[in-house]
Amino acid sequence: MKVAVVGATGMVGTVMLRVLAERNFPVTELIPVASERSAGKKIEYQGKEYTIVTLEDAVKLAPDVALFSAGGDTSLAWAPKFAEVGTTVVDNSSAWRMDPTKKLVVPEINGDVLTTEDKIIANPNCSTIQLVMALAPLHKKYKMKRLIVSTYQSVSGTGVAAVRQLENEQNGILDGEMAYNYQINRNAIPHCDVFMENGYTKEEMKLVKEPKKILGDDSFAVTATAVRIPTAGGHSESVNVEFVNDFDLAEVRAILEATPGVIVQDDLANNIYPMPALANDKDEVFVGRIRRDESLPNTLNMWVVADNLRKGAATNTVQIAEYLVEKGILKA
Ligand SMILES: NC(=O)c1ccc[n+]([C@@H]2O[C@H](COP(=O)([O-])OP(=O)(O)OC[C@H]3O[C@@H](n4cnc5c(N)ncnc54)[C@H](OP(=O)(O)O)[C@@H]3O)[C@@H](O)[C@H]2O)c1
Repeated sequence: MKVAVVGATGMVGTVMLRVLAERNFPVTELIPVASERSAGKKIEYQGKEYTIVTLEDAVKLAPDVALFSAGGDTSLAWAPKFAEVGTTVVDNSSAWRMDPTKKLVVPEINGDVLTTEDKIIANPNCSTIQLVMALAPLHKKYKMKRLIVSTYQSVSGTGVAAVRQLENEQNGILDGEMAYNYQINRNAIPHCDVFMENGYTKEEMKLVKEPKKILGDDSFAVTATAVRIPTAGGHSESVNVEFVNDFDLAEVRAILEATPGVIVQDDLANNIYPMPALANDKDEVFVGRIRRDESLPNTLNMWVVADNLRKGAATNTVQIAEYLVEKGILKA
């Protein structure tokens, strides 16, 4: 299969190449794509050297599949051009997620919505993916009524420039390139993505809208606060969810333990709970601190952590491509 990785030099693209190799995705020809700045540079994939090409050159090669993580504007401009030459695009940006003609997919939850007609498929936002992975099985059983989510997001979610900013600040360099308006080291910035007219950030509104589309249900209410913290990799979320039906805590744990892709880390006697440092470089979503909200009936608190570059981005994208191959939707 001819596979283009668009944004191959970026934070997500780099992990995408690793995940493709680890999972033995049937790559017969790799086409690494980045901006004009990187074209001509070499990257290594499974022991072989490849030259980075521009989008113009890549589209001429008509790949079977293109995994995009090069920002929303690049996706808006280029995904349709790839689709026109017969390429199936799986896109990591927010460009197509809420487009009613495009599918928004977490394969374990709604992979079955995909058909041969889908030429541009959207990968959800990183914070959304880990949230719905933990909530989908509970929603099925108890039906969500209202969800309050507060995020503690790593700098790797902003891209290479933000990781550089944190590293510079940790090394005492305070006048380097700034990815944020403020210092991120020793700080918490309640501002992820841009502000919207309603006073929320775009990241917060993604958490409000995307779970409804993925679960195919807009009967529940969601409110969110997204905060950037100085962790290098892995997003954490405090999740408070009110259900229509009451639950049993042991049953909640059993449901989550039986959910593929979810790992319960919840052993208070031994101080076991999910943390970004433990989730780093893992594909699973980790859930812990599972407890009843004693202030409201039928309401649960939990703490959800995942590596935003793996399940939050690259792994989910590659899993979508794998699902398409498995179902015979994507053929070389
Ligand atoms: N980081 C995350 O956790 C995460 C999670 C989910 C989704 N995403 C999304 O994935 C995308 C990339 O994020 P990132 O964190 O990997 O960013 P990043 O580290 O800044 O990397 C951006 C990549 O896009 C390439 N690029 C930029 N402008 C381009 C253009 N005009 N034409 C072709 N390539 C271009 C860059 O190439 P050069 O090196 O040549 O500049 C680089 O490879 C964004 O849309 C982001 O919202 C990120």
